[in-house]
Amino acid sequence: MEFKTIIEPFRIKTVEPIRQTTREEREVALKNAGYNLFLLKAEDVLIDLLTDSGTGAMSSHQWSGMMVGDESYAGARSFYRFEDAVHEITGFKHVIPTHQGRAAERILFENTLSPGAMVPNNTHFDTTRANVENRQAKATDIPIPEAHKPQLYHPFKGNIDLQELERILSEDAGRVPLVMITITNNSGGGQPVSMANIRQASKMCRHHGIPLFLDACRFAENAWFIKLREEDYTERTPHEIAQEMFSYVDGCTMSAKKDGMANIGGFLALNDDFLAQRCRNTLILTEGFPTYGGLAGYDLEAIAIGLKEALHEDYLRYRIRSVEYLGQKLTHEGVPIIRPTGGHAIYIDAKTMLPHIPQNEYPAWALSLALYIEGGIRSVEIGSVMFGRQPDGTEQPAPMELVRLAFPRRVYTQSHVDYLAEVLTYVNQMKGEIRGLRMVEAPEVLRHFSARFEPLSNNSVLAEK
Ligand code: F0G
Repeated sequence: MEFKTIIEPFRIKTVEPIRQTTREEREVALKNAGYNLFLLKAEDVLIDLLTDSGTGAMSSHQWSGMMVGDESYAGARSFYRFEDAVHEITGFKHVIPTHQGRAAERILFENTLSPGAMVPNNTHFDTTRANVENRQAKATDIPIPEAHKPQLYHPFKGNIDLQELERILSEDAGRVPLVMITITNNSGGGQPVSMANIRQASKMCRHHGIPLFLDACRFAENAWFIKLREEDYTERTPHEIAQEMFSYVDGCTMSAKKDGMANIGGFLALNDDFLAQRCRNTLILTEGFPTYGGLAGYDLEAIAIGLKEALHEDYLRYRIRSVEYLGQKLTHEGVPIIRPTGGHAIYIDAKTMLPHIPQNEYPAWALSLALYIEGGIRSVEIGSVMFGRQPDGTEQPAPMELVRLAFPRRVYTQSHVDYLAEVLTYVNQMKGEIRGLRMVEAPEVLRHFSARFEPLSNNSVLAEK
């Protein structure tokens, strides 16, 4: 007999208490945090879905690996284990450890982008975009048009628009030092990219002599979707699928805080000898010697093991199913979400849910605050607070106003998910009471991390009672 229930494929050996707070306590905490969830103390949060980055639970295998970490400054055994694991999955010749994904991005862009350059990507994540713009270069997002239609089903909504890519490469190749594809497409809903799309983009880039890189943070989740949805891959293992994805590209940036299943770490991996040498020199200047790159030996061990665990089928089946399970409940209750559900997160379509809040009053931000006030849930806005400010200082509404509920790996169980569904259903019922916000203080770049807000008047959800 094959049973239907997909269980958490682990049992719990260590537990960390989470703290219930009252609505009144949460109101005070939020006010003190300038109505910015990033500025809350984590202990004031009940279920923390701010990010799936570095927040996962490591396995007993990873913890035991940490105990045998080699902390030698140069040539540590742990580095070679890490290098072997990355090499085995990606096939890239050079593996450069970094303290997290954005360090890999900065090092890569510092050595490839000059002012006026352009980087096409299905959709840049915020740090990737900021690191491109920091080089006075242009970060161009070219997802397929379906990506902008939250309710529309498409099996690979993360695909890069190949026609648009071809147009850019034919007209402007001189400006493009590299092309990137983000798997899965985080800012576009955690949506996967198909093998066919990666293969075709690779062909195009090779034809124009331009390197193609993957932003590979969630490569294992992307591989799982390919196995589930793409013809010819159902019988292949996620590991084989990952190897094939990497075989079409020239390098990758990676945050090991996601599908590396570690709490810190990342890498840049690539084939080009000359570029790798330059990147290693930058690494030495700011991160550390090339066999540790700002990480401890035990971190390298945890990543070496984590990269493999992320590709286990029972883990991926459970992970993707738990997100889908919440998505089904929300859809049933009429909460508008990006469909189909993606890999690491649920994305609520706040523009559709809160049509009474104009984009310059930040509907997705307002919804994320309501989820905290009502249920102690911390989510993140991916909308006009995150993306509204243009490099020239002007404001432009983001294409979508999303609230992302990102799931730490192997951390929450089904009853947590049932609780989330209950809170979200309630908030959807009282959504008419949610009001927008005014931004009163913000830095010039990556403002969502530290901006402060004031609720607009008549705000019954956020008003102090
Ligand atoms: N690329 C993507 C697609 C990401 O999602 C992230 C991080 C990075 C690069 C940067 O990696 O944090 O290790 O420096 N995303 C996290 C998130 C922060 O919440 O989605 P990092």
